[in-house]
This record gives sequence, C-alpha cells and structure tokens, in this order.
Amino acid sequence: MDATMAVPLADRAVSLEQSDIRAVTQQVEEVGGINLGQGVCDLPTPEPIKARAHQAIRDDESIYSHYAGIEPLRRAILEKEKAYNDVPATSPEEVVVGVGSTGVFVAAAFTLLEAGDEVILFEPFYGYHRNILELTGATIRYVPLGGPESTFDRAAMEEALTPDTKAVVVNTPANPSGKVWTRDELSTLVEILQAHDLVALTDEIYEYMLYDGAEHVSLASLPGAYERTVTISGFSKAYNVTGWRLGYGVAPAPIAEKMGLMNDLFYICAPRPLQHAALAAFEDLDESYIEDLQSDYATRRTLMCETLEDIGFDVPWPDGAY
Ligand SMILES: Cc1ncc(COP(=O)(O)O)c(C=O)c1O
Repeated sequence: MDATMAVPLADRAVSLEQSDIRAVTQQVEEVGGINLGQGVCDLPTPEPIKARAHQAIRDDESIYSHYAGIEPLRRAILEKEKAYNDVPATSPEEVVVGVGSTGVFVAAAFTLLEAGDEVILFEPFYGYHRNILELTGATIRYVPLGGPESTFDRAAMEEALTPDTKAVVVNTPANPSGKVWTRDELSTLVEILQAHDLVALTDEIYEYMLYDGAEHVSLASLPGAYERTVTISGFSKAYNVTGWRLGYGVAPAPIAEKMGLMNDLFYICAPRPLQHAALAAFEDLDESYIEDLQSDYATRRTLMCETLEDIGFDVPWPDGAY
C-alpha cells in the first residue's frame, strides 16, 4: 500500500491533536527553556520511595498485580483518604490504583458515561478532562466559574442541567486557575447532585498544594456525597514522580469494582514495582515532608506572582495547585 494513502481513522481519532501543554513542553525542550506550561516538577523523588523501587525490582516484583492494585497499597490509600480527605470509605474494595490519576479518570469516565449522557465541566478546565470525556461519547456542557476568584455560581450550573445530565467534574485545587473550592461551594454542589441524581468525578491531584491557609475539602467528605462521588488523586505531584504513572480513585464498591475492570482492560495494572515503592509515601515519610513541599511551592508562587506583577501583569494569586 502506498505509504501516503490515507487510512480512514475512527472519528474519535480524527479530532485528536497534541494537547497545548504537551506542545509547549516540546517547544521548551527544543530550546532548553524553563517549562511553565505542563505540571512538571523539578523536585527530586524522595529517597525512601526510590529505595523501595530499587528493592521491589531486585525482589522481582515484576508480574502483573491485581487489576485494582496491590492490597497493601490500597489499604494505605484507604487510610490516607480517611485521615487527610475525611472520605468515608471503609474497605480496600473501594480503592482502585491506576496508571496515573489520568488513567483512573479514564477508567471512571468509561465506567459512568456513554453517548447520550451529558456531563458538566467548569471553565476554565483542564484540557485532558474535556478530551477524555469526549472519547466516552458524552456531551459536555460548560459552566463558567466567575470572576477573579472563579466563584461557583449555582444558577449557572442549574441552567446547564438537562434530563440527560449524568455527571459533573470538579477539579480542586484547579488547573489552570489555581482555584480551591470552598466547603460552602461544595455543599451547594452536593445539594444539586442530590436533587438531580448526579454523580461527581473529582480530580484532587493538587490536594497538598495550598497557599495562605486555603483548606482542601474533598467533595466526598460532605454528608450525602460519598455514594455519588469518585474521588481521584495520585502520586505524581505530591511525590515528584509524574513519569511513574501512579494514581488512585476511591468510590463506593459497585463503582470501584467496575473501574478496576475497566483499568484491567485498558492497562491490566499500574506498574507493579512502583506500586510497592509508593507504599513508602505512607510508611517512610513523616508530616514534615508535605509541610516542606508546601513551603517550597509557596516560595515559588510568591516569586512567580511578584515577578509577573513587577513586569506589569495583574495577577490573581492562586490559592492552590502549581
Ligand atoms: C488537573 C490535573 N489532573 C491530572 C494531571 C495528571 O496527573 P497524573 O500524572 O496523576 O496522571 C495533571 C497534570 O498536569 C493535572 O494538572
């Protein structure tokens, strides 16, 4: 076949393009510049995590794991979600370890959404959310978060609802705005979720990156929310392992079980030796690790915002994320 002949692609592939943030990354790498486009951290991976990865490889932890992740890691994530996020999960059956929080988001989206469903995405949004949601065939309804504080507007959300609305995506702390959803905003959202029988997918990958006393509230921690929420987070940003591809989701067992099976189909499992290494995040690092991380990012935020202000920009200082 003539190599230049166009093979017809699936519709879902035709519209796919390299994401803007990846394109920026590529251009920055070409000129050896500083990458402010993609959420890439330059901090080192903590030594205890690296040491366990070495050990796991030496121990031949090399075969497929359970599709939802190794049991000790699921247990450790369960304890963390209870302690830090106040999420009322009770069993490792409610935890799915996946290929980055992105892989878990894919598993959740394909578990919950299909053509004919509508899903609410708040603007500004993280591009991967939109593109993954589109792959499911669901229709996206955009709801702007208003003003410099990106405030949640109940009326704007209710206006976007139709009888086909099935789900909503909440990213807190948010990329790209740096918005941290308040407890009040999330409580209002829960009322709407309950009134219209909707499910929420949350992306909490920046849950530790908080500034000026901002509080991270997990939607699933609010009364009546857990049963209709998939809480998603991961190791990439908190432990400087973006390339390791390790994330997790917590959801009621009937949803988590299907997400695990979806994860099995797409990826079989998250990288096994690295799952063992991730245990060190919970067992070998103490609270000072996260405190140091927070102060490190706070210093960077100040430097960035002040520099931008110095050169004449009007900067809404983010409450969270990086
Ligand atoms: C909002 C958001 N979610 C998820 C990710 C990717 O996370 P992971 O590496 O766990 O797939 C990013 C990375 O930039 C992000 O900004």
